[in-house]
Amino acid sequence: MNTGYKLRLIVHNILYDIQNLKITFDTALNKYLHKKTSKRDIAFINTVSLNTMRYFFHSKKILKKYARKKTKIHEEILLYSAITQIVFLKFKEYAVINETVEISKKLKLYPGYINACLRKISKEKEILKKIHIDYSELPSWFKKKTENLDKFQIKLFIDNFYKEPDIHLVFKSKKYLSSFEKDLFITSEKSGFLVKKQRIEEIASFKRGNWWVQDFSSSFPLNNINNKIIAKKCLDMCAAPGGKSFQILSRKKNVVLNDKSKTRIMTLKENLTRLAFYPTITNFDFKKISKKNLYDFIIVDAPCSAVGTIRKNPEIFYRKKEPDFNGLVNVQREMLDAASELLKDNGIILYMVCSFLKIETVDQINIFLSKHKQFKLSNFSLEISDYNNFQFIENDQMLILPSQLNKYNIDGYFAAYLKKGVK
Ligand SMILES: C[S@@+](CC[C@H](N)C(=O)[O-])C[C@H]1O[C@@H](n2cnc3c(N)ncnc32)[C@H](O)[C@@H]1O
Repeated sequence: MNTGYKLRLIVHNILYDIQNLKITFDTALNKYLHKKTSKRDIAFINTVSLNTMRYFFHSKKILKKYARKKTKIHEEILLYSAITQIVFLKFKEYAVINETVEISKKLKLYPGYINACLRKISKEKEILKKIHIDYSELPSWFKKKTENLDKFQIKLFIDNFYKEPDIHLVFKSKKYLSSFEKDLFITSEKSGFLVKKQRIEEIASFKRGNWWVQDFSSSFPLNNINNKIIAKKCLDMCAAPGGKSFQILSRKKNVVLNDKSKTRIMTLKENLTRLAFYPTITNFDFKKISKKNLYDFIIVDAPCSAVGTIRKNPEIFYRKKEPDFNGLVNVQREMLDAASELLKDNGIILYMVCSFLKIETVDQINIFLSKHKQFKLSNFSLEISDYNNFQFIENDQMLILPSQLNKYNIDGYFAAYLKKGVK
């Protein structure tokens, strides 16, 4: 068995498990990796699996044109992966077709059918590369939840959702950014995009803890905050793996980092050690956080559908099942309610989600404000006044769709500041 065959079989198993066992990409990946799997092989598995999910709708449309029979689930997955490799990743089609056919024999599928489909597709790959996805082809749950988007926003999403993410770094200080050893496209005095993508662990200043990876969109709200607010008592209600809190800690301010998940806290601790930050960490369900201590500033970066990060989490569209919106919306609402009780008068809650769906963003803010009359939306530009003109901020709320900044891909994200008045 050659390496390409083995790796493509792993990709097939991962893609099958994500779709049918409803597990995450990371869980599926860990299930099939061995201690001996090389970094190069892991990179291959990552690229092919993630891009097969990103180009799922494109490949589905292509297969529909060429399929001469009802395609079985294993055949579909094998073909989607092979189409992605041939048409979109420009891999050598000879190896892709041969190894895909070999896997189809092992899985007792029809090798002749797989072979014929892929040969026809590879002949027309240059035309197929330009295939366009319509909004109507996206999952019905997504269309229902985005009825409020205008034509421009829909086009933006359709043009961007399947692209590979770029790597955006946030630095502990201006000094570390200016001494950074690689080329950066600067987005603020403490952040920028890596111009040439590479494994971050291979960059020396990563190991030295000078920076962490955090998308432009999710770093924007705290890049902007006034030092006076974070100089007081801060709580990050659901902090792991830590990006938002790192932004506060890097300004030499204190924040208590809480999260319910023990595994995510482990990752958080690893990140904190690398960055040499030593804050207080707590491991409570947000409902159990003691109300004896009140805070001036609370970050609620709530669990959500994560559809804003569809490029990093392409399984959202690839899975058959829609996200559990009832559960997510309830947790978001309850977290906001709990934060309102843990906040001092004149304090501020920063509500954020990596989603742009109305139900998880603007609706949550409106529901919260109608229930908590003591609160109002606070001006987003807490420190830098020209952020008022920032295209993503409207009515004091930041809403970004997966899109591009310059030529760099950025995530979809939502943020709003809620200020508590005095009763
Ligand atoms: C969007 S992530 C937070 C990301 C984090 N703020 C960052 O910047 O890296 C949401 C977090 O909420 C946590 N969470 C979910 N339910 C929770 C609960 N009931 N109480 C506390 N944390 C919870 C999850 O474990 C997860 O780490």
